[in-house]
Amino acid sequence: MHNMNLSPLISEEEIQKKVHNMGQTLTAKYKDQQIVAICVLKGSFMFYSDLIRAIDTDVICEYMAVSSYGNSSQSSGEVKINLDLTGTIRDRHVLLIEDIVDTGLTLNFLKNHLAMRGPRSVATAALLLKPGALKVDCAVDHVGFEISNDFVVGYGLDYQGYFRNLPYIAQVQSLS
Ligand code: IMP
Repeated sequence: MHNMNLSPLISEEEIQKKVHNMGQTLTAKYKDQQIVAICVLKGSFMFYSDLIRAIDTDVICEYMAVSSYGNSSQSSGEVKINLDLTGTIRDRHVLLIEDIVDTGLTLNFLKNHLAMRGPRSVATAALLLKPGALKVDCAVDHVGFEISNDFVVGYGLDYQGYFRNLPYIAQVQSLS
């Protein structure tokens, strides 16, 4: 995307340090217990793969895909499940892993939805949180970084499908 201006916000080193620390916290929290770690596709795939490698306990990997944004940078407020879990979470400890919490609508929907499937517990981890953008009361158990309301890309996050492969987080502005 040549008509976009990227300004780095969180470096690769800062991300890796934060993910490592979160992994240690989660290792202590789930010591000797099995967890089902749910990756919310697509944006969480990079954070997810780094975080689960930093958690030293038995992890079962599951994936969900939801849509709320389409190709726009504004939340539609609607959450639709496009890909669902393949296994049961009944009586399991669930760790729901999100890239970013913006309005909180997606995470709230997923938490409520998963709670209906009888898990032993549901905890949430998000790399990024925009506290100023929250539209619903949405508690996140483990947050990497709190950021402003600006749109960000990289480390799994996209703008119109681009920039997911950046190893760092950047703010993005249109030059046109
Ligand atoms: P929420 O439901 O408004 O909290 O939005 C959650 C989803 O919106 C995230 O999982 C992202 O896919 C997307 N999103 C929100 N803010 C950004 C951003 O700044 N950059 C890229 N994607 C974002």
